[in-house]
Amino acid sequence: MNDAPTAAADIINERAGFDPVEVAVVLGTGLGNVTDSLEDAVAIPYADLPGFPEVGVSGHDGRLVIGKQEGTRIAYMQGRSHYYEKGDSRCMAAPLETLALLGVHTLILTASVGSLKADFYPGTMVLITDHINFNGLNPLIGVANDGGFVSLTDAYDQRLIKRMKRATISAGVTLHEGVYMWYSGPSFETPAEIKMARMLGADVVGMSVVPEVILARRLALRVAGLAMVTNFGAGFQGGNPTHAGTRETAAQATIVLKRLIRSFLKTKEEAWTG
Ligand code: HPA
Repeated sequence: MNDAPTAAADIINERAGFDPVEVAVVLGTGLGNVTDSLEDAVAIPYADLPGFPEVGVSGHDGRLVIGKQEGTRIAYMQGRSHYYEKGDSRCMAAPLETLALLGVHTLILTASVGSLKADFYPGTMVLITDHINFNGLNPLIGVANDGGFVSLTDAYDQRLIKRMKRATISAGVTLHEGVYMWYSGPSFETPAEIKMARMLGADVVGMSVVPEVILARRLALRVAGLAMVTNFGAGFQGGNPTHAGTRETAAQATIVLKRLIRSFLKTKEEAWTG
């Protein structure tokens, strides 16, 4: 751990209190409005937190919001950094280390994705069960003393997958399951690349999640991944993704995501008291 996460954690503790944060959610593009139902919410601009992303000023992006939801102390990262911004696959390392220092043990990553399955329509959600990293990039390259040899056999935590599936019942949400393939972006894929991804066993494609999962597993955080389908992949089912289109469709999925996270937090309480 370097100094930035420690400094950021100190600032967060000072402003939001010292009780451990248990769960953290990273909100993807267009998914900023999930935090309005938090109790005792404290919002801290990323600009005040060393190592946190420099994100655009659109919407609610660029804040860490900490509060209580369904009895759980939870932190929402409203906005993330992506590899494609500066070519740095470690760009989310400091925020994730900060969350670990705050006590977070469960990390829910959300992201918009292109769909490679005919029945994964835009507007639906996919629980990520595994990933394919075909970029030749890895955020743990260069980690000293064998610290990079992190197991990814259970990268997407089986217990969290089970709880998320249970949560869909009370939330009334349909959740597909699938494999996420990471493309670096920022350009979208070609139709040939989408065809290849389908042949390799991917169900959705996106430009984030994977380096964050790898970093989080090194920190022993348990990870769940929720992908919001915003479009069909390029050339598949007429897919022709645009940034504006993905933002707009992701925003429409916000309400569903909110319901699902709340139900997910309730399942944990039931499991703990049951
Ligand atoms: N490709 C990559 N990333 C994405 C897409 C896509 O089609 N849609 C949303 N994020």
